[in-house]
Amino acid sequence: MIYYPINTLIQGGIKDILIIIAPDYSGQFLNLLGDGSEFGVHFNYAIQKEPKGLADAFIVGKNFIDGDNVTMILGDNIFDPGFGAQIKSFEKGAMVFAKKVEDPERFGVVEFDKDMKAVSIEEKPENPKSNFAVVGLYCYDCRVTEFASKLAPSLRGEIEITDLNNIYLKNGEMKVNVFDSLWEDAGTFDSLLKVSNEMANNIAKLTESDK
Ligand code: G1P
Repeated sequence: MIYYPINTLIQGGIKDILIIIAPDYSGQFLNLLGDGSEFGVHFNYAIQKEPKGLADAFIVGKNFIDGDNVTMILGDNIFDPGFGAQIKSFEKGAMVFAKKVEDPERFGVVEFDKDMKAVSIEEKPENPKSNFAVVGLYCYDCRVTEFASKLAPSLRGEIEITDLNNIYLKNGEMKVNVFDSLWEDAGTFDSLLKVSNEMANNIAKLTESDK
């Protein structure tokens, strides 16, 4: 599962990658991935001692980010190849990606006005204002650590990525790219199997069209 998101970052031209891990599994990731030379990139590692939320990554990773722009991908989010160019094109503000889903209440949900301009993002709303889920790939400019440090934990005790996104949105500095290609939050065995089969089919089709 972890190879997929790493591959998405590499396609985006990213060569310095910080892998943030819970203490219990850190050894397994280090054994599997090593220093990154096998992939032509450099891996760094950081431990997130407690599950304090996705936006906490920018506090844990403060020294690593060191004032640069940064892209974050969730370790269980699997994308079809093809996001590389958009990641490479990112310059300032924030950029997220949204896809129409049938169960938006499981995700961050973006509301659009009639011109498809994003007007709000809500985390796991009971009554979603749209079917567009914000997926686990995010680009931010160098202010991200400062903004994340100002966030208070939510009711579930996490520093929410959605709160961070809303700072950029309210500043008018958030770009939301709607897409329709393959994406899966593969946090369950069933979803991992489903997306692996879809990937295998896509690769088979590509190989077939190459013949
Ligand atoms: C997290 C984010 C949510 C986003 C989702 C994408 O949810 O909080 O906004 O839509 O990842 O996979 P979680 O994994 O915490 O349920």
